[in-house]
Amino acid sequence: MTALQRFSDKVAIVTGAASGIGQATVLRLLAEGAHVVGVDTSAEGLAQTADRARDASEGDNRAAPSLLRTVACSVADESAVKALVAGVLEKEGRLDVLVNMAGILRSEPTTSTSLDLFQSVLNVNLIGTFLCCREALPALLETRGCIVNAASTSAQFGHPYMAAYAASKGGVFALTRTLAWEYLRQGVRVNAVAPGGILTPMVAAQGERMGEFDMSLFGHLSRPDGVFGAPESVAAVIAMLASEDGAHMTGEVVKVDGGVHN
Ligand SMILES: NC(=O)c1ccc[n+]([C@@H]2O[C@H](COP(=O)([O-])OP(=O)(O)OC[C@H]3O[C@@H](n4cnc5c(N)ncnc54)[C@H](O)[C@@H]3O)[C@@H](O)[C@H]2O)c1
Repeated sequence: MTALQRFSDKVAIVTGAASGIGQATVLRLLAEGAHVVGVDTSAEGLAQTADRARDASEGDNRAAPSLLRTVACSVADESAVKALVAGVLEKEGRLDVLVNMAGILRSEPTTSTSLDLFQSVLNVNLIGTFLCCREALPALLETRGCIVNAASTSAQFGHPYMAAYAASKGGVFALTRTLAWEYLRQGVRVNAVAPGGILTPMVAAQGERMGEFDMSLFGHLSRPDGVFGAPESVAAVIAMLASEDGAHMTGEVVKVDGGVHN
């Protein structure tokens, strides 16, 4: 997939590893020599990621599946996240990169958005990102490592019917910039990607519901040519931000949206 080997001897945690952008990031980091701990609530999806890693490694030792370990847990579960990081330090011995891609999207008109729905989205997208950052930071301070979070173009531009989602991603945006400042002098970089229109199961599920919404409000949210981005395009940007190539970047929220929000 790539001749780059920017993560040899590095250990990365990738959340949301069972699907979409998180899965593509696992495969990308493995191909570049990382030891990856893939985290997701979906054990079945994690098994598929491991299969894809095995397929990718056939004839290419750089993406050896033995460098992938998977952990089924929720990023919103504080004790599970503590155990996750403790397990990485025990088994892999260090932590260099945290990629927070776990996320959920629940669309509703705001007037019918229940408190439960709003809180459940914040719990995964924002609180889960916070918990993973908080628990990983002591280990990242040891290695002068880095974090890449999943923001969204909805945080900067607003997306109709996604009040909970956009608010959670606005929180991730602010968290990213805050941690970048807080740990700047100690050498931990914190960046985010803001994907838009990347064809993953999350976006496909959203697409199936579009008939329920007032489409005239979505004018600026998709490309006129109808082209979606691939998860691998975002994974490539994440890998750059997490590598030495991104050494002079921190506090950035990098749009990967095919130009829709220019
Ligand atoms: N696809 C896009 O266009 C797009 C746009 C903006 C932002 N994003 C963000 O990028 C990230 C990845 O999205 P995707 O499109 O690949 O979605 P996806 O649905 O394909 O993957 C998300 C993964 O997160 C996992 N997950 C959900 N809740 C979890 C939890 N509590 N703990 C651990 N894992 C959990 C899911 O099981 C799934 O495997 C998300 O944070 C999403 O909000 C995506």
